[in-house]
Amino acid sequence: MKKSTPTTNLVPDFISSFSYDNRLAIWDIKCSIAHITMLAKKKIIPPSDGKRLLKTLKAILTDLLKGKKLTPAEDIHYAVEKEVIRRVGEELGGKLRTARSRNDQVATDIRLYIKSEIAGIVSEICSLRRAIIKKSLSHIDIVMPGYTHLQQAQPILFSHYLSTYNEMLKRDECRFNDCLKRMDESPLGAAALAGTSYPIDRNITAHLLGFSKPMSHSVDAVSSRDFACEFISCCAITLTHLSRMSEDLIIFSSSEFGFVTMPPEFSSGSSIMPQKRNPDWLEIIRAKTSAAIGSLTAILSLLKGLPLSYNRDMQEDKLHIFRSSDDITLCLKVMTGIISGMKINQKRIAEALERNDYYLATELADYLVSKGISFKTAHNAVSRLVSLALSRGLKLSQIPLEDYKKISTIFSKINSADIRLVLNVKRVINSKKSYGGTSPLLVKKYLLKELSELNQK
Ligand code: ARG
Repeated sequence: MKKSTPTTNLVPDFISSFSYDNRLAIWDIKCSIAHITMLAKKKIIPPSDGKRLLKTLKAILTDLLKGKKLTPAEDIHYAVEKEVIRRVGEELGGKLRTARSRNDQVATDIRLYIKSEIAGIVSEICSLRRAIIKKSLSHIDIVMPGYTHLQQAQPILFSHYLSTYNEMLKRDECRFNDCLKRMDESPLGAAALAGTSYPIDRNITAHLLGFSKPMSHSVDAVSSRDFACEFISCCAITLTHLSRMSEDLIIFSSSEFGFVTMPPEFSSGSSIMPQKRNPDWLEIIRAKTSAAIGSLTAILSLLKGLPLSYNRDMQEDKLHIFRSSDDITLCLKVMTGIISGMKINQKRIAEALERNDYYLATELADYLVSKGISFKTAHNAVSRLVSLALSRGLKLSQIPLEDYKKISTIFSKINSADIRLVLNVKRVINSKKSYGGTSPLLVKKYLLKELSELNQK
C-alpha cells in the first residue's frame, strides 16, 4: 500500500501562492520602491536607509528583468522581502514592512498587473478590428445568405456580416477602458485594514505608481475585488464574442458550406482521414471561453460569502485573473491571424444563394404592401406560395404567374416583370438603405469610417 504524506508536510505548500503569484514580482518591487521612496521622503525611515533599500530593490528588479528567479517563499511579497534581507540583512530589510501589510500590497500589485494587461488587450482588440475591417473592405460586394436560427433569412453583404464583430469588439474595448478607469485608485497605505499611525502620504505612492489617486477607504481597499470581477467579466464577454465568431467560421468552413477556408497555419490535418482540415484553433477559442466564464463564476463565488475585510480565500483570485488575461490575449492574436489569412470562397457563397430564393419571400410581401395590402395579409399569401414552391421543388421565381394568382387574388396586382425585379438579389441588397442596413453604399461608408478611426488610434 502507498504510504500517504503526513499532513503537516503539506501545510506550507497548501497555503503558498508563490507558484503562480511570482508573476507579480515586477509589480511587487515597483510597489515597494514607491513605498520606500515615500517613507524616506516623510522621514518615517532615515533617508540613508531609504537610499540603500531603493538601490537594492532596483538591483533585484534589474536581475529579474534579465531572467533571474527569486527563491520560492510563501508568496511573492515574502520572496521579495527574503531577497532584500539576503542582500542587506534583516535589520535594514525588515524596514520594508513599515506602515504596510501584505493586504494592501497584494491589492496594489494586482491592480498594477491588470492595468498593464488591459493596455495590451485593448491593443489586440484594435488589431483584430482592423483585420475585420480590411477583410470586409476587400470583399465589399459579395452577397451571402444572412441567417437567423441558422436558416436562410435574407440576403446581406458578407462584409456587413463580418463587420458585425467589429461593433461587438468596439464595445468590448470600451468595457475594458471603462473598467480601467474604476480600478485606477491605489490601495497602498490602507495597511492591514485600518490605515496606519505613521505619517504616510498616500498621494505620493499613488502618484509614483501611476494611479490617479489613493482609494478613499482603507477597509474597502483591502477587502474589494470587484475590479477583478469586472476585468474577468470583460474577458468573458469578449471571449464570448470570439467564441460566436469561431462557431460561425467553423460552420462556414465546413464542406457543406465552404464559404471560407481557414489559413493552413490555423487548421490541422486528421491523423486518420487524409481529406480533413480541422478548425482546431477556433475550437480551442470556444474551449477557452468556457474557462473564462468559469473563472467569472469562480471569483464571484469566492467573494460572495466573505466577511470583511481581507480573507485568505482572496489569494486564489489570481488564478482566475491570470488565466483569463492569458487566454484573452492569445485568443485575440489567433483570431486576428485567422481573419487576416482566411480565404473567402465567393463561388461557394454564390452557389448557396442560387440553390433557392425563399430568402426573398419577405421582398415579395413588402412589394404587395407597396400595392396597398397589409403586411399580415401579404405574409399569409407569400407563405402559401413558399409551401407550394417547396412541394414542387421550385424556386419562387420558377412558379408560373397563374399559380401565384391561384393562391391569392392579391397577386393579380403584379406581373412577371415585377416578380423578376422584386426577386433580384442585387436590387434587394441596394434597397436596404435604412440606417445601419446592408446596402453597399452604407456598408462601405461605415467600413471606411471605422478604418479611419482605427488608424487614428
Ligand atoms: N498571498 C496573499 C494573497 O495573495 C497575500 C496577502 C496575505 N495576507 C494575509 N493577511 N495573510 O492574498
